[in-house]
Amino acid sequence: MNYAVPVSNLEVLLDAETIAHRVRELAREISADYRDRPLRLVGILKGAWVFLGDLIRHLDLQITVDFLSIASYGNHSRSSGVVRVTKDLDESIEGLDVLVVEDILDTGHTFEYLRGVLEAHKPRSLKVVTLLDKPSRRVRPVRADYVGFAIPDVFVVGYGLDYAQQYRNLPDVRVLRPTP
Ligand code: IMP
Ligand code: MG
Repeated sequence: MNYAVPVSNLEVLLDAETIAHRVRELAREISADYRDRPLRLVGILKGAWVFLGDLIRHLDLQITVDFLSIASYGNHSRSSGVVRVTKDLDESIEGLDVLVVEDILDTGHTFEYLRGVLEAHKPRSLKVVTLLDKPSRRVRPVRADYVGFAIPDVFVVGYGLDYAQQYRNLPDVRVLRPTP
């Protein structure tokens, strides 16, 4: 399989060390906020699992993990806002403190839809941590409770994020510029 663009041509936006440092900070903040309360983490597949895997190893909390998988219709790089659940939660979240783990908040369409789906299951509380946030792109009224990095309006790949399912394995976050 050929990459759309060779990895060496992709500019590094966040290197692995910077990400690791920030993930530990987020974990400390979350651990302090949920002290003594069991927490259910819900990772959104596929983009968030690398972040989730690193984050949970620094959480000083009693946690359990579940996953929700979603797919958006339309093209690869832009959210159409039309989302469907392709793998539902395995366990009920009713009455639980739930922290959704997202890779990136862009327009906000995806999370607005997800929030509705999850709130219908009546968690005790529902918060979201996102590794990346593109606030300038937001069209729906959603915000994250914990943000790793606010980034400009560029398309990024790596550390779990993909373009056409590629580049998820990069240890850093890199910019994929549109080909002219
Ligand atoms: P939203 O619905 O526009 O907020 O988009 C959220 C989803 O779009 C994310 O979960 C990603 O799957 C995808 N996405 C948005 N921006 C990027 C990006 O820069 N790189 C990779 N995926 C992205
Ligand atoms: Mg994606």
